[in-house]
Amino acid sequence: MRYGYFDDEKREYVITRPDTPLPWINYLGKENYFALISNTAGGYSFYKDARLRRLTRYRYNDVPSDSNGRYIYIRDETSGRFWSPTWQPVRLYLDEFKCRHGLGYTTILSSKFDIKTQIRYFVPPGEDLEIWDLSLTNARPDTAHLHVFSAIEFALWNALEDATNFQRNLSIGEVEIEENFILHKTEYRERRDHFAYFACSGVIVGYDTQRGSFLGRDRGWENPIAVEEGASRNSFAQGWAPIGSLQASIHLEPNKTERLIVVLGYQQNPRDQKFDPPESQNVNKNLVKPTIENYLRPSTVDLAFDELCKEWDRSLQIFQVETPDEHTNRMVNTWNQYQCMVNFNLSRSASYFESGISRGIGFRDSNQDLLGVIHMIPERARERILDLAATQLEDGGAFHQYQPLTKQGNVEIGTNFNDDPLWLVLAASAYLKETRDWDVLDELVPFENIVGSEGPLYMHLQRSIDYTLERLGPHGLPLIGRADWNDCLNLNTFSTEPDESFQTAGITDGKVAESVFIAGLFILAAEEMVQIASIRGREQEAKEYREAAQRMEAAVLKHGWDGEWFLRAYDHFGKKVGSHSCQEGQIFIEPQGVCIMAGIGLEKGSAQRALDSVGKRLATEHGILLHQPAYTSYQTRLGEITSYPPGYKENAGVFCHTNPWIMIAEALLGNGDRAMDYYLRINPSAREHLSEVHRCEPYVYAQMIAGRDAPTFGEAKNSWLTGTAAWNYVAITQWILGIRPTYQGLCISPVLPNDWPGFSVKRKFQGVTYHIEATRIRPGNEVRLRVEGDLLPGVIVPFPPQGTSDVNVEVTLL
Ligand code: GLC
Ligand code: GLC
Repeated sequence: MRYGYFDDEKREYVITRPDTPLPWINYLGKENYFALISNTAGGYSFYKDARLRRLTRYRYNDVPSDSNGRYIYIRDETSGRFWSPTWQPVRLYLDEFKCRHGLGYTTILSSKFDIKTQIRYFVPPGEDLEIWDLSLTNARPDTAHLHVFSAIEFALWNALEDATNFQRNLSIGEVEIEENFILHKTEYRERRDHFAYFACSGVIVGYDTQRGSFLGRDRGWENPIAVEEGASRNSFAQGWAPIGSLQASIHLEPNKTERLIVVLGYQQNPRDQKFDPPESQNVNKNLVKPTIENYLRPSTVDLAFDELCKEWDRSLQIFQVETPDEHTNRMVNTWNQYQCMVNFNLSRSASYFESGISRGIGFRDSNQDLLGVIHMIPERARERILDLAATQLEDGGAFHQYQPLTKQGNVEIGTNFNDDPLWLVLAASAYLKETRDWDVLDELVPFENIVGSEGPLYMHLQRSIDYTLERLGPHGLPLIGRADWNDCLNLNTFSTEPDESFQTAGITDGKVAESVFIAGLFILAAEEMVQIASIRGREQEAKEYREAAQRMEAAVLKHGWDGEWFLRAYDHFGKKVGSHSCQEGQIFIEPQGVCIMAGIGLEKGSAQRALDSVGKRLATEHGILLHQPAYTSYQTRLGEITSYPPGYKENAGVFCHTNPWIMIAEALLGNGDRAMDYYLRINPSAREHLSEVHRCEPYVYAQMIAGRDAPTFGEAKNSWLTGTAAWNYVAITQWILGIRPTYQGLCISPVLPNDWPGFSVKRKFQGVTYHIEATRIRPGNEVRLRVEGDLLPGVIVPFPPQGTSDVNVEVTLL
């Protein structure tokens, strides 16, 4: 069953009813100002940091769910009836409803009592504000007399404090009111120099800033007294719960359309210009007023929207594909890249499953997210790599997370997730291949953000490698620390207390528990270092990295192979995890993916055996499970993984992030049919027809799909913010379609399903547009390249002479 459809031409997903199984959301903003918006206008906004600079409130545990948002009420002055054109919060049945989620904007269209409305929400490029661009059309025979109430609830900036510290919060709320805007200035009197504003164009006849006055006693957002009676209270918030609500009056003749523009924004004043007059406590509005006036003009709004669309056009033009499969096309061309960008911006901080409070920018996560965006935003990727490296410790370890506003490592969660540093090498090398910006390696980057501790980025990469080599266990495999990629495999924690963290309690520098996953990841990283070092003429270092990788491979083959698949780990007692000899958790997906990606067992058949085992034991119609059998009881020696009920999350769910590793492994072995089959099992567009089962958005990947041990097999959760986005993008574009940047040029080496007649791709790479046309002559993976008609040896198109703008490549598959 579907709840909407893809409009591929417009790059929109069109939701045709408000009651989707879960709120289906979108994101606005991609620089500093961000907003989450659901198909019924729920969600919240923040500046840079969802924890520290929250503009509006959202209650994750609320009932009905998704009942805080960007609200509009329309009241018919003649009949006294009122409704919400976004359905929430009034929830009065709408005669027509459509929500169009596009790239960086959402448009909600509806019709009620013959009044048609369209509201387009977006963040203008480069601005710290959001627009609600509302058009009302009168389809009645007579003039409509309408009042439009806009409403939001302000958050008192720090979202955690806002949700907990009521003895203080209820006394500190402060606002100022101007003719057509409301200013929220809580704590501005003391150490803050920022405030929020809420403005509306049109004829303003009333306002409210105190929630209690606007809603009235014992009422909710669905029937505020001010709206019901058609009369704002003109309330002035002092303490309690400050809101912004402006009441505009409109007289609409038949068949006429009018526009109202609402602006919600964030403004920071220079410290020495906070107040006006300087000795007063009044916010200096001189700097913000021109922006507000400007954006209340429809012409400015139209220009800004146009610019937003052009920006996305430019970003997406870098990689466009046409294949025989529509799910591949729309995900690769639009939604997968879009999701990668959202992940780059927000890491795992703010979604409908991540509260914006508990996690900042993750070291492991953000390095992987980079893999999906470097081609679109190389400059920002460069900056992110340097920021991440700056949270690395002198010993090569890394803070697991940092706060985006301060860029300081999060001390609470700390370090010792032993896979972390290696991801930096993968991100940096992907960046180098895309850009050949070798200077980045000489950039001086501090350790732990400490001034004076700077070393070149290259040194940071070296330390990442050393970190693993200095932490090898009894079998010569890397020690796992608090956890590796699987945050929930906690072999050193032994947690028994309900309120402690599974990751940070217990021993953190266990000297026995080892990870085969990190071994594979190490080889991948070390091989990248071999290439980097040799291109930079550091032959001795290249040799050392090569030897380290070989030693690691030997250790995996000797101690990390279980007979039919790769082992997952050794626990604190030296016992195997992920072995046929275990009762539960016999086979894990992660080491099969990463060890094969690292090239282990490709020639001697063990890679194929491991993949056959994955196919037999882990693959399901809804994706590939994390492990089998699921753990049925909590075991302290394994940690959080056994805390989840069977089939959910890390306990044998389809943890989608890992699936592309298997797709890549299948492609490496030349199994194009299987790679594509796995790709389509979790491709959200390919699952659209199952929306009542899948339940999350059909246009983005979710972190997890419940596994077959769960009663809700096939149900997705934790959509949007997941490493799944970047890895699927890598799997389909670089390994299945086979188009990947290398230091020697653009590699084109597809491994396709046998029934694909071909495909075409346009790829911009280092200033040159490659027009790639692939045609299949017969089943197989042999590739022949002709560049401008000339047959080329191998599968890499070398860099063309300076000044070349276009290169035509014919690819024959046989
Ligand atoms: C979450 C985390 C990620 C981790 C994964 C598996 O997605 O953000 O860092 O690798 O879970 O535990
Ligand atoms: C929980 C989740 C895991 C996530 C971690 C972050 O363990 O299961 O997916 O990575 O929290 O701390």
